[in-house]
Amino acid sequence: MRFNGKTLIVTGGGSGMGAATARQFSDEGGSVVVLDRHEANAKAVAATLPRAIALGVEVADEAQVRNAVDTAVKEFGGIDCIFNAAGYIVVNPIEKYAPQEWTDMLATHVGGVLMMFKFALPLMRERKTGSIVNVSSTAALMAGMNNAPYAAAKGAIISMTRQLAREGAPHVRVNAVAPGKIRTPFTVPLFTPPNGDTEEGFRIAAQTNMQKRMAYPEEVARPVCFLLSEEASFITGTTLVVDGGQSAL
Ligand SMILES: NC(=O)c1ccc[n+]([C@@H]2O[C@H](COP(=O)([O-])OP(=O)(O)OC[C@H]3O[C@@H](n4cnc5c(N)ncnc54)[C@H](O)[C@@H]3O)[C@@H](O)[C@H]2O)c1
Repeated sequence: MRFNGKTLIVTGGGSGMGAATARQFSDEGGSVVVLDRHEANAKAVAATLPRAIALGVEVADEAQVRNAVDTAVKEFGGIDCIFNAAGYIVVNPIEKYAPQEWTDMLATHVGGVLMMFKFALPLMRERKTGSIVNVSSTAALMAGMNNAPYAAAKGAIISMTRQLAREGAPHVRVNAVAPGKIRTPFTVPLFTPPNGDTEEGFRIAAQTNMQKRMAYPEEVARPVCFLLSEEASFITGTTLVVDGGQSAL
């Protein structure tokens, strides 16, 4: 029960790794504020947890993020932990990318994280406690194909994590995770072959890592909760790679 009496805000909490982390945090005694641009999905996740609320929030929207932080404080008395998981991917050769598409990509991944820090970090500093985890990706570490805007956004998250760890120090810790290939709604369209056999597509995609399998979102939620917890009390400003050995090959 590492999170007894603690409160987590999770963005992108309506699905995948955000939802899995919301469940893990709650199972260990914590309260959760589930945010997602798809409000119905956020509500569905919160409805399964004993101490949770849900809000439809677009993380690139300053007013919506400020309101979410205010609501979390009113509802639960303070914010102890944040998991910035909201994200999406658009895979396209660079000449096919419209400028608006990369602006939106950066607005969600980079802007969304910065916005959450803008409103939550001062509150955490004041309480002299807090742990924040951002989501990067192996895309920030390895060259893929047709993925430069997403990789740029995820690379920015690694450097922002270092900078923001310094802004949060000494009391607020800030880290990132860089997941490899994880089984979520995010990867289904990426790897499903034309015959529609997603499992077969996942098997092929998984050949790029040492374990030859894609991970379940809970296998990222557990390292995220480690970083959010006091067990990681001397870890800040770093990125934990969770990729079955993919980036070590
Ligand atoms: N699945 C993978 O293999 C993988 C690997 C590396 C990194 N990631 C990253 O992990 C994070 C979580 O991905 P996932 O696999 O759980 O995907 P997912 O699609 O299951 O969940 C992502 C959630 O984020 C929400 N979201 C997207 N943009 C948003 C915005 N602007 N405002 C609010 N909500 C928004 C979506 O509605 C969705 O519910 C993302 O940042 C993704 O880029 C995923």
